[in-house]
Amino acid sequence: QLQSPFTAEWTSPSNIALVKYWGKYDKQIPANPSISFTLNNCHTQTKTTFNTANELSFEICVNGKEEKSFRPKIEKFLNSILGYCPYLSTARLKIETSNTFPHSSGIASSASGMSAIALCIMSLEKVLNPGLSEEYFYAKASFLARIGSGSAARSVYPTLVSWGKSETLNHSSDLVASPYIQAASFYQTYQDCILIIDEGEKVVSSTVGHGLMNGHPFAENRFEQAEENLTELIHILQDEQKVDDFIRIVESEALTLHAMMMTSNPYFILMKPNTLKAIELIWKYRKENNSKICFTLDAGANVHVLYPQNEKTNVDQFIIDELSSLCQDSRVIFDHVGKGPVRL
Ligand code: PMV
Repeated sequence: QLQSPFTAEWTSPSNIALVKYWGKYDKQIPANPSISFTLNNCHTQTKTTFNTANELSFEICVNGKEEKSFRPKIEKFLNSILGYCPYLSTARLKIETSNTFPHSSGIASSASGMSAIALCIMSLEKVLNPGLSEEYFYAKASFLARIGSGSAARSVYPTLVSWGKSETLNHSSDLVASPYIQAASFYQTYQDCILIIDEGEKVVSSTVGHGLMNGHPFAENRFEQAEENLTELIHILQDEQKVDDFIRIVESEALTLHAMMMTSNPYFILMKPNTLKAIELIWKYRKENNSKICFTLDAGANVHVLYPQNEKTNVDQFIIDELSSLCQDSRVIFDHVGKGPVRL
């Protein structure tokens, strides 16, 4: 029985996909498998207080202020998971959340935000059912997070995480993500510096973008390509010597994601002129310095600069000297592959 009130607090990280999920079916089923790096510094911290009540209700505070604009998304989320978490039907939730990065700027705030709430809910479930295993705890957190936002399914696990049924990955599932543990330590310590090219809200949300893959002329080829890229990448990730292939797939995935947007009906562009300028400078730096630096993009204008830890000192300096001036207020976020969510 729930001792009311019960409080759970988690930090959960954002993630950046290397093979992109773009296109989905009903009930947040991905059209293709994906794999991501779990980030570290870009995260959401969420405290949820559960009180017993007559029916499900909630309030949400973002950075200490009641935030009405988030209500519809959270309401939809809580109602859609009620069947899996019946104990919520008599709960009042106070959700207090804050991000270390701007929301709706192409950094997956929905991934960290939804996974953090899902983990708080699982902490409550664990109190109600103390026997549930750690494996079940995280798998169900991933399952619930996915219902809130597809890519959130990947945020509950550390380092490298895949999601979506794939012929190459044993036990892969469309319903839950799973940690990919065979990667060489070289990739497990990768750096990701996010260039905040544009902090503004995206002109087209990812929900709309996924929807435009329905009937997209290149959709089927794209879904096949993602499966092929994932198959190739999981082998590459086991071998530090294959970093050039890593770069080729990761950059191609980023550009293909945006190519899908540009060839949707209606078409749209989320990149900004400085997105392309940053890519050119990254390519120039790679060539001139025999570096393994590369980039990826999320559904937004910001650029994720990826580089091995052994290049950190030089690349950090290059970012400060040459790339930060392309960013809004020169803002960059130095981050790296992280160890996953933490209960506070
Ligand atoms: O989780 P959503 O619905 O916000 O979709 C995210 C899609 C991308 O971030 C563009 C790619 C991915 O796999 O994370």
